[in-house]
Amino acid sequence: MSRYDADEGVVIAYGSMYGNTEQMAEAIAAELSAQGIKNIVMHNVTKSHPSYIIADIFRYKGLIIGSPTYSNQIFPEVESLLSKILVRELKGRYLGMFGSYTWAGAAVKRMAEFAEKSKFELVGNPVEMKQAMQDITYTQCENLACAWRTV
Ligand SMILES: Cc1cc2nc3c(=O)[nH]c(=O)nc-3n(C[C@H](O)[C@H](O)[C@H](O)COP(=O)(O)O)c2cc1C
Repeated sequence: MSRYDADEGVVIAYGSMYGNTEQMAEAIAAELSAQGIKNIVMHNVTKSHPSYIIADIFRYKGLIIGSPTYSNQIFPEVESLLSKILVRELKGRYLGMFGSYTWAGAAVKRMAEFAEKSKFELVGNPVEMKQAMQDITYTQCENLACAWRTV
């Protein structure tokens, strides 16, 4: 782990209270798979223990983070994961982001601050969804996943 070497593959780590952000995660995973990416690991941050999520993030070169907006913040368990990644000073990884909100999105904006601090290389356009999955969101999730073809 201390060498920061990475295998081909992408970890999608997301939080979701009602399933909206989870639907985005699933749409992204489906398109990554359609792009031929073999190792796709999904972690719902409220279900997987952080130690397993961190181990997979160290293992694979790609990380796609998803979070609903929660009181104008990142969902707490996602925030906690991001701070664990920063503490470990992981280097040389690629990053994608997505999130959802209802009245004023904040999660994606705040995850962009993580992107800057971590110095991970941003891949694709972050996707921000208002309320529920629509055709346009599905397309944006597909576009985000397509950007990983060249990583
Ligand atoms: C406790 C709580 C706090 C929330 N805070 C915000 C907020 O500050 N801004 C906002 O636009 N939406 C807020 N929402 C709405 C969620 O971000 C939105 O419903 C989101 O799509 C939920 O995603 P999920 O289905 O993946 O849980 C909040 C929802 C809950 C339950």
